[in-house]
Amino acid sequence: MTTPSTETSRRLFERARDVMVEGVSSPSRGQLNYGEHPIFLRRGEGAYVEDVDGNRYVDLMMAYGALLLGHLDPAIRAALHEAADAGTLFAAVSEPEVDVAELITTRVPGVERVRFANTGTEATMAALRLARGLTGRRRFIKFEGHYHGWYDDYLVSAHPHPAADLGLETDPIAIPESSGLEAHALQQAILVPWNNLDRLEDALRRHRDEVACIITEPVMANMGVIPPEPGYLEGLQALARQYDTLFILDETVTGFRLSEGGAARRYHLTPDILTFGKGLGAGLPVAAIAGPAATLDGFRWGGVLHYGTQNASFIGMMVARANLWALTAEVYEHVDRIAAAVEDGLKELLRRHHVTGRVQRVGAMLQIFFGTADPIRDYRDFCARVDRQMFQRFAWSMIRHGVYMSPSASLHSIISKAHQLEHVEKVLAAADASLAEVAGS
Ligand SMILES: Cc1ncc(COP(=O)(O)O)c(C=O)c1O
Repeated sequence: MTTPSTETSRRLFERARDVMVEGVSSPSRGQLNYGEHPIFLRRGEGAYVEDVDGNRYVDLMMAYGALLLGHLDPAIRAALHEAADAGTLFAAVSEPEVDVAELITTRVPGVERVRFANTGTEATMAALRLARGLTGRRRFIKFEGHYHGWYDDYLVSAHPHPAADLGLETDPIAIPESSGLEAHALQQAILVPWNNLDRLEDALRRHRDEVACIITEPVMANMGVIPPEPGYLEGLQALARQYDTLFILDETVTGFRLSEGGAARRYHLTPDILTFGKGLGAGLPVAAIAGPAATLDGFRWGGVLHYGTQNASFIGMMVARANLWALTAEVYEHVDRIAAAVEDGLKELLRRHHVTGRVQRVGAMLQIFFGTADPIRDYRDFCARVDRQMFQRFAWSMIRHGVYMSPSASLHSIISKAHQLEHVEKVLAAADASLAEVAGS
């Protein structure tokens, strides 16, 4: 195979580095993951993206999962055009936001009220303030390896670190993720290993009456893909109720992806607060905080403050509404079928190339873990056993073979409505060649 030229990307990156910090607007897009230079994209259509040199790739990243319908779905295009003719932002109330809120309340179990924001980070930040306001407590339980955005309080033990630094499971070491954090940020989070109800109950017992909330991702989506053990999330919810603390389900990744009602519906959960982002806005910055009236009404004026000029922008709500209308039960059946075909194909290829690895999948979300054949159940497993360098080499090779994906082992691949069996064939052909390269087989 001749390696496709990415010369225009290389030149653009030189320009970008002169005027933008490390040439990027978010570090995961730059040299941290892409080596010499990232690939500049100029167009997306259906299951494909095209770079500035004219190379086409099957897209397995789908804007980190924002695009459940794929690129430029006709329903989204129509909503964008309609909004463009009407106005983009009024910073006033509008009908589409009521429609979107109604769609969310009918689809997600237990949700009676919705507040819109722009990003997942804003939503989880507001959710924590709401939980603190409602309970009068300041501390909260966060799980090792869970990422909830870049708000100070959540920036502990969110990314993979060498296993030696993690401390004991009974008392994890809180690893700060950034310079510039307030000292209190490190002291408020009570860290607990995930997928372990005993450890969670220990923490709740030890910190009785101190804990405003437990926040969790329903599926660990920032350590590849790590599913909850059967009964784990239901058990977590029961413990939150038993110990009288609030349960926040961070559905920034899983919302409207794992079912029409997200992970809450898939796992039969009724959290006190839910947060949505990414997949809600189909590419526009739309996020939401949602839940029963008893909790969400804490945002009423004079209670817990939540503002935002850009909240529920007209264009964002038009697109979110079209997105939710288009996300029918058939879409979820389709992505599950396609994702299962990718999973089966990758497993077979790992066997054929004698590569020690494992594929984990929940619905449309899947990841290959190199270096282990045993299940990855939590952050500690990921840090200790996953060969992240091998994954990076594999992903770089996949990109050279026409499949766009994140080269970070902690960021998973995503199937959209636009992916069909013909794309599965292309992905598996690229994986065949890439495994041969990384395994030297
Ligand atoms: C689970 C989870 N919560 C929150 C966020 C933050 O969302 P955003 O990047 O829109 O601020 C992310 C982003 O990846 C996420 O994965």
